[in-house]
Amino acid sequence: MTIYMDNAATTKISKNVLDEMFNVLEFEYGNPSSIYTIAQSSKKKIENSRRKIAKALNAKPKEIFFTSCGSESDNWALKGIANSYKNKGKHIITTKIEHHAILHTTEFLESLGYEITYLNVDEDGFISTKELENSIREDTILISVMFANNEVGTIEPIEEIAEIAKKHDILFHVDAVQALGNIKIDLLELDVDLMSFSAHKIHGPKGIGVLYIKEGTKITPLIHGGAQEREKRAGTENTAYIVAMGVAMEDAVKNLEENKNYSIKLRDELINNLLKIEGVHLNGPRNNRLPGNVNISIDNIKASEVLMFLDLKDICASSASACTSGSLEPSHVLLAMGKDEESARNCIRLTLNNENTMEEVDIVSNEIKNIVEHLRNK
Ligand SMILES: Cc1ncc(COP(=O)(O)O)c(C=O)c1O
Repeated sequence: MTIYMDNAATTKISKNVLDEMFNVLEFEYGNPSSIYTIAQSSKKKIENSRRKIAKALNAKPKEIFFTSCGSESDNWALKGIANSYKNKGKHIITTKIEHHAILHTTEFLESLGYEITYLNVDEDGFISTKELENSIREDTILISVMFANNEVGTIEPIEEIAEIAKKHDILFHVDAVQALGNIKIDLLELDVDLMSFSAHKIHGPKGIGVLYIKEGTKITPLIHGGAQEREKRAGTENTAYIVAMGVAMEDAVKNLEENKNYSIKLRDELINNLLKIEGVHLNGPRNNRLPGNVNISIDNIKASEVLMFLDLKDICASSASACTSGSLEPSHVLLAMGKDEESARNCIRLTLNNENTMEEVDIVSNEIKNIVEHLRNK
């Protein structure tokens, strides 16, 4: 039996989501922009999903925009705001530990003449709000900080950052792809202007995301064409996936507390077991960490070898983020946290959720212990 501990990379689609999706795929084939009855039925499904998502986030339906994934949401937030506010300034603040959907977008914006400040993080991956405030300039138009890091699970002080952004009248974007379903998000309470989400991290399908855009925020579209999404994001709507995202989001929010407490229990047991193995170090904080995130480095042991042996036992884990695993590049997140190249190249990430069990935690702890012993005695 496969033991799946790579839920930060993606999650298994839920039965609830699949049932709704198949139903829409089979029967709701009308183009939502057409006027006849079956098309209008698709349109209703989309608007119903938008309302569900808005309710789950305590936002307004007109602030919810469907995209093709978390990466598109991040790209749109940054490029759209950069273009809309270019006359006000061309300075953006972000962090060194963002997902590449942000970092490669800011690199692109640099090529267009924007200036980017990349905030440092401490040894646990936390930014300093003091450094953030000191980085603000006359021409700063946007701050973009992730809610929680996908590699080491560090949860950033988003509320405090939002207050600083408001104080200085600067727009604030949050990549909440990993936070969704793990941390309560209330967009009425939290003063954030833009927030990115993705369905496949919460038992939804890959290829559908959301960008929350606070009412009144000026933003240039990323995809030009038809009038869909109130003329802000062109393209015939993916009705089935939009409906799926609504179901996944509703379930994630409904079961958040229960799933969170359960994942924390599994996570802490796994961390405690692994730290008993000689030479194992935990990357990231003990507190303010995503409920299911475990990230370790093991002295003088290659992560790729451990992952290969785990795979032989049908255990799925990863090294750094899914997008960079397989490459020999050290993790930019661990380097920013001050780890040496060797540890940054050899981290192992195990990410748990409500579908894992304590029995799996015990099996994986023992397997890793045995693999490390085997590799040390080679
Ligand atoms: C923090 C973060 N942002 C953005 C993304 C990109 O989301 P998607 O895979 O939907 O493009 C991911 C995916 O791993 C992520 O972890």
